[in-house]
Amino acid sequence: TRSPNIRNFSIIAHVDHGKSTLADRILEQLGAMGERDKRDQTLDTLELERERGITIKSTPIRLQYVRPNGEEYVFNLIDTPGHVDFNYEVSRSLAACEGVLLLVDASQGVEAQTIVNAYLAIDNDLEIVPVVNKIDLPAADPEGAAAELEEVIGIPADNAVFASGKTGQGVPEILEAIVEHIPAPSGDPQAPLKALIFDSFFDAYQGVILFVRVLEGTLNPKDQIHLMNAGKSFEVDKVGTFSPGLVVGDTLPAGAVGWVAAGIKDIQDAQVGDTLTGKESRTAEPFPGFKPAQPVVFSGLYPTDTEDYRKLREALEKLKLNDAAFNFEPETSEALGFGFRCGFLGLLHAEIIQERLEREYDLDLIATAPAVVYRVTLTNGEVFETQNPAEFPTRDRIELVEEPYIKLSVMVPEEYVGPIMQLLQERRGAMQTMNYIGKRVELVYEVPFAEILYDFHDRLKSISRGYASMDYEQIGYREGDLRKVDILVNNEVIDALAVIVHETKTYSLGRKIVDKMAEVIPRQMFPVPVQATIGGKIIARATVKAFRKDVLAKCYGGDITRKKKLLEKQKKGRARMKQFGTVEVPQEAFLAVLANE
Ligand code: GTP
Repeated sequence: TRSPNIRNFSIIAHVDHGKSTLADRILEQLGAMGERDKRDQTLDTLELERERGITIKSTPIRLQYVRPNGEEYVFNLIDTPGHVDFNYEVSRSLAACEGVLLLVDASQGVEAQTIVNAYLAIDNDLEIVPVVNKIDLPAADPEGAAAELEEVIGIPADNAVFASGKTGQGVPEILEAIVEHIPAPSGDPQAPLKALIFDSFFDAYQGVILFVRVLEGTLNPKDQIHLMNAGKSFEVDKVGTFSPGLVVGDTLPAGAVGWVAAGIKDIQDAQVGDTLTGKESRTAEPFPGFKPAQPVVFSGLYPTDTEDYRKLREALEKLKLNDAAFNFEPETSEALGFGFRCGFLGLLHAEIIQERLEREYDLDLIATAPAVVYRVTLTNGEVFETQNPAEFPTRDRIELVEEPYIKLSVMVPEEYVGPIMQLLQERRGAMQTMNYIGKRVELVYEVPFAEILYDFHDRLKSISRGYASMDYEQIGYREGDLRKVDILVNNEVIDALAVIVHETKTYSLGRKIVDKMAEVIPRQMFPVPVQATIGGKIIARATVKAFRKDVLAKCYGGDITRKKKLLEKQKKGRARMKQFGTVEVPQEAFLAVLANE
């Protein structure tokens, strides 16, 4: 059975190819609110999303479309997050659709995210409606962009709709293409319930609100439902649709996109990708591809002011209520005091959380260097995972270390291919393929994930004068020769500065941190050694020179014995300082070193 008059679709595009503008135009043409600023209040809910121009949450909208021939349709437009950190969320949003509009900027052509997103759609068996956008631009080459789509992704160029989100040109054709090319949802409304969760958020009054696509059966208030992966059951309070915003309705039959409130208190129980079914009459199989939200990047967060520890914990707890992918646990650092080890989906996710803590909760934070999760096999056969340099064992206890790898796709104009390949080489990348697409090249590399955490994107952009684009996916673990580098100030290990790094990079990184640290530590009464070590062996050192307190200045003239005595005294003083003193390393020093590793 099909619901012939429903179309569930999403718009996918490379960043800045005009997704939001086109979505706006579609909304406007269908009589929903149109202007960007209104939309901002509805679709893009977070202030940060607006500022950064990226979508973090997928927000659906239900629209009415009346064809020129009078037939009426319901369109569910499901917005998707626009960043690789959230690719799993994107894939679940796509799984809720039957088709996508694949947008390409007519002046830019196919970019890295265009390709990755197109494959996400293909993996989900979706119908793709190609749209060449921004055709009003003077530099637009719509035929060229369409030809690239055909060449790279295999979508016939003839199928492309030429459009402009700015002028509205081509939008009526897009609406018709949605009806004609994207299949109606199928699914038996009488079958046992099967619904996919593609997003959720926490509401203080109603608990977790699930965004669902009903695949089979019908979802009603008072239904007893069961979450198949979480293994928990709940009673439905309310169901409804998005218009935009939550509108209460009475039922969600197969094919529908809507929301459910079921008094769920913990967002961990209602993860994206899980399947809802009836508590009594269950569907045979959950929707495939569920992955529990799992952080892949970790970093320590410490309040600059130790008084703020409790405030930080409360803020983290609040953020976690709404974010199943974020986790944290208390951690103590000798250098930074009490803080939390936090896990994120990626660097952007980490930055977003940090910024929200600083803005919404008015906290001042220090973050330690981001780290990936390593898998360590010890000589005694024990295997464990760790992302914390503090837990990384010494060389003699390690049998094998494995680190996460990604498949990285970079699109770049051909004149920059050389320097980009060199950059990837420096980052321990191994080339897989190289494809020419007109005057541009797609490079596909396998690279250790850790290698792109430190200013990779910035380097890529500056080398290519902004023209390169990238996207990636995780591809599992590979063996790597990794070491822990410790940093010592005045012979004491500064735990917060330890890093895990590939054997080939220990010296250069050790040197860099040591020099930087020596630069930012204020001079003391005695020289302070700063060292980088591996398993106790020094690999780099620098010295913070002592003040030379000019004791001799006091004795005019030539009483040599007096001079000697003074010098003697000063030497003793130095020794005492060394003996008693740990060096006061100001927090700015950590900030300087941690800020741009
Ligand atoms: P992300 O949300 O960051 O992925 O970006 P987006 O794909 O939603 O792009 P957005 O709609 O924000 O547009 C990016 C830029 O392109 C903005 O400066 C728009 O004003 C401009 N733009 C979008 N569509 C058109 C178009 O059809 N013609 C022209 N000339 N400019 C456009």
